[in-house]
Amino acid sequence: MTRTVYVNGQYVPEDKAQISIFDRGFIFADGVYEVTSVIKGGLVDFEGHMERLKRSLRELSIALPENIADIKEAHHELIKLNNLDEGVIYLQISRGAADRDFPFPDGAMPTLIMFTQEKSLLDAPLAKTGIKVISVEDIRWARRDIKSVGLLAPVLAKQAAKEAGCHDAWLYQDDYVTEGSSNNAYIVTHDNIIVTRQLSNDILHGITRYAVLALAKEKGMKIEERAFTIEEALQAKEAFITSASTFVYPVIEIDQQSIGNGTPGPIATRLRELYIDNALANLS
Ligand code: PDD
Repeated sequence: MTRTVYVNGQYVPEDKAQISIFDRGFIFADGVYEVTSVIKGGLVDFEGHMERLKRSLRELSIALPENIADIKEAHHELIKLNNLDEGVIYLQISRGAADRDFPFPDGAMPTLIMFTQEKSLLDAPLAKTGIKVISVEDIRWARRDIKSVGLLAPVLAKQAAKEAGCHDAWLYQDDYVTEGSSNNAYIVTHDNIIVTRQLSNDILHGITRYAVLALAKEKGMKIEERAFTIEEALQAKEAFITSASTFVYPVIEIDQQSIGNGTPGPIATRLRELYIDNALANLS
């Protein structure tokens, strides 16, 4: 199947899509991205993803090449052209193409690309079985709040997880978990308190995290935004992750040790249901 993708205002077959070899996204990882999920042909949390996109761009002084209404229309057009019922839309904006030199170039036009990926989200098998993770030192840069395309550290972490027969990696710094390699990380204590690291430059401010915590609060669940160690996670009642491409996945094993009784926990399972119901009711 050949997808239709979006490159700087044009819809083109994926094998005809072109960007410059001098693109600074390619040369310097000088760009940012967003991943928005699609269920039943509609967008989940689109506005939140666009707010974070604008923030990431602002932090790097990259101009938004199109207005958000046009970007939303392009998302819908890609859904239509690719007949996408369930999956994600990847969007990337780089500073554009210019002869290789480190400082910002004068007059470069930002590059905007988007493409669809089919993915099972509502009935994802891993949501039922839960995932196994390993812990890996967080070797990323100090501005993880910016959704930068510089993803070599998560690439290495996920490869290490794969080689260990696991699904993902939880990253730690000075003994404390920052987040998952491409998701936010949570534990549930034996007092049923949901614990996840507080927002700072150390983690990405997850759009799914925001929605899940709001729903949990609404249902009267207790939340503590603070750092926790792998040691504490191993003793926890439950663990789970959130992201646009997973919604909520239970974590059943960390470093080959079972969490709780080694099966998806009730709070993670409940939060997944709440998130999905809310997403379905608010598709855009
Ligand atoms: N990753 N933390 C990191 C490091 C991430 O890369 C992501 C998202 C998240 C969760 O954010 P959100 O809930 O807004 O998706 C947290 C995307 C899905 C990816 O890189 O594919």
